[in-house]
Amino acid sequence: MKQHFLDDQNYESELITILKENNVKSILLVCGHSIEQLDLNQLLSDLPATLDIKITRFMDFEPNPRYESTVAGVHAFQENDCDFIIAVGGGSALDVAKCIKLFHTMDATTNYLEQEIIPNDTKLLAIPTTAGTGSESTKYSIIYVNGEKQTVNEQSSLPDYVLLHPVVLNSLSDYQKKATMMDTLCHAIESYWSVKSSVVSKKYAGIAISSAIQNAEAYLLNLEDGNRVMLDAANIAGQAINYTQTTAAHAMCYKITTLYGASHGHAAMLCLTKIWSYMLNHMDLCNDPRGSEYLFTTFQEIASFMGCDSSEQAIDKLEQMMEDYDLKNPQIQSMDEFYKLVKSVNVDRLQNHPVKLEEVDLIRIYNKIFGL
Ligand SMILES: [Fe+2]
Repeated sequence: MKQHFLDDQNYESELITILKENNVKSILLVCGHSIEQLDLNQLLSDLPATLDIKITRFMDFEPNPRYESTVAGVHAFQENDCDFIIAVGGGSALDVAKCIKLFHTMDATTNYLEQEIIPNDTKLLAIPTTAGTGSESTKYSIIYVNGEKQTVNEQSSLPDYVLLHPVVLNSLSDYQKKATMMDTLCHAIESYWSVKSSVVSKKYAGIAISSAIQNAEAYLLNLEDGNRVMLDAANIAGQAINYTQTTAAHAMCYKITTLYGASHGHAAMLCLTKIWSYMLNHMDLCNDPRGSEYLFTTFQEIASFMGCDSSEQAIDKLEQMMEDYDLKNPQIQSMDEFYKLVKSVNVDRLQNHPVKLEEVDLIRIYNKIFGL
């Protein structure tokens, strides 16, 4: 499915055209409070008066959204006879909106996650307010069921329309900006080394790696061009993982977020640098049918996109960025917590990771991550 990207200079008139073309009568707006700082908020608030379009705001979801929140969103969609969805926010808002789009035509008497998904025609416009998740360009939505992460994987959840507007990044905190940039880098690097990578996915991933690295400073200074390029990099990295999915760094990071509250991208990069080092010492366990020499070259190429001569230099560079940005390792409180982390990763689901990992490897890598 081809997505339509709105022009960020003329998005207001384009949005109005889209709403008219789709004969929209009632919009479900899935958003967090960050929308209150955006000009777009006024435009949407005015829609009942300007175009006689009803707006229902759905904000009843949390970071790391629960399945129950998506069900509440489906109720809001149905009770208000909605016929269009706009999602404004970070990955949580976008993922909830993607699930509402999928679930609202399904049987409400059975758990949506246990049903076959039948694509529907409801249109979704995604407006990411962080440069990180790339959720606006992936078929994946992450929700939590009884505290456990679950991925909804459905191509038809891909938003029909996307607005990448650099102004939305101005209101983020420094920590959010740093952590979401790390998420972008992890998506791009993991996609590049994924066993499922292809010429096309590597092209996207390579562009995202170099763009993110080269524009880190301008983005963190909140310069408009820096923000624009980082939003693009996050989106392109999202397109890359739409082909390949993420790998072990993402699998290992989710529990760090739920146990210690470290932001997703922060946790993912803590894992990625240690996993990369570990793989360099275990190239004999290469899991990619293209072979260990291919994998070595792949690592070299990633380093080169980062402006480095070797994998070791690239890892040092990422670790230096983490130190400079004050993105520290959380402190483990008990062995019980340590084993919760290890048990949170299903090694059977790491088939696209380029080096074979068993539970014993996870233990060694978590030891490195937490400096034990
Ligand atoms: Fe991520």
